[in-house]
Amino acid sequence: MKTTITAIKADVGSIGGHIKPSERLLDAVTNYLEEHRRGLIIDYKVSFTGDDIAILCTHERGVNDEKVHKLAWEAFWEGAEVAKKQGLYGAGQDLLKDAFSGNVKGLGPAVAEMEFEERPNEPFLFFAADKTDPGAYNLPLYLGFCDPMFNSGLILSPGMFKGFKFTIMDVNYVEADRVIELNAPEELYDIAALLRDPERFVVESIHSRTTGEQAVAVSTTRLHNIAGKYTGKDDPIMIVRVQGAFPATGEILAPFSIGHFVAGFMRGSHTGPLMPVKRNSTISYFDGPPVVSCAAYCVHEGHLTESADAFDHPFWDYVRQEVSRKALEIRRQGFFGNAMLPFSELEYGGIVEKLSKLDSRFVVRS
Ligand code: F6R
Ligand code: MG
Ligand code: MG
Repeated sequence: MKTTITAIKADVGSIGGHIKPSERLLDAVTNYLEEHRRGLIIDYKVSFTGDDIAILCTHERGVNDEKVHKLAWEAFWEGAEVAKKQGLYGAGQDLLKDAFSGNVKGLGPAVAEMEFEERPNEPFLFFAADKTDPGAYNLPLYLGFCDPMFNSGLILSPGMFKGFKFTIMDVNYVEADRVIELNAPEELYDIAALLRDPERFVVESIHSRTTGEQAVAVSTTRLHNIAGKYTGKDDPIMIVRVQGAFPATGEILAPFSIGHFVAGFMRGSHTGPLMPVKRNSTISYFDGPPVVSCAAYCVHEGHLTESADAFDHPFWDYVRQEVSRKALEIRRQGFFGNAMLPFSELEYGGIVEKLSKLDSRFVVRS
């Protein structure tokens, strides 16, 4: 049997600013799914990371399925209705279009999904990040799938010797999907040359070159490309199948110990280190720092186990301390230089007005 894992996330309102969704909102989403799931999805989990709610579900209907996407879309609307009633901040924020039109891509919510023939044992990881954008996964995916310094399986496990195929999307191209396929290790430097620019080039998927099977699916939505204005950062999700011909769970997690600097943080307009957090964590310091959670599952005939919280371990407490230090360090320089994003990536347009007023006051000395 072929199983599809579909993850869809949206920010439809949160308590006290952009901290976390309310219990009632989460219940509304869960209840809607429970009441309308029959005959459609096999299993599901609802969780949150910062102000974003994620629906993770399994079914047999393949990717981009209209009915599955509609179910999630309507569940988020239920949540948004509760958010309005409770006066939550940013109620319905990511539901950018009023009408559902076939699938949720281009409507605001982020989607990561893949269809595959289940292995006899099928472990996978579900990542959800807040206060950052999809390019945040570029570095950990590069290191986890291409670099034997992080992925020892590339030299120890014959199932990985052939390497992986990366599909990378140019997210600035808005008319349609513009993608390139590149093979590691032969085209490693080409992969690196693109992934170094995470605001433009984003890993969309990764496949094993040994088995041809898909290992990774990343949500590549850019909200400001859909809305044409600030509506929050894109807060990406990602599914990674692990073990066997894929990297081990720990090899995928290892690069997150870097706490690498990503775009996002306050007003989606700053640079901050990505902190690996426990599931259902909130947002705090300077509307951040950018966070990523990871729920590990196994799936069998579409049924999900309970999750194991991959970043809930004493090791990651130490990493969180180190990442806090990095966050404070870059915050010390406020808006100067690299601490604030370049003009093209600022999520708030106010500065454009300010600069154009000042422009008229410039004089050219003769
Ligand atoms: C970032 C984010 C927050 C808001 C900030 C101001 O993704 O959501 O940092 O940008 O709290 O919010 P507004 O402009 O809605 O008052
Ligand atoms: Mg928000
Ligand atoms: Mg968010």
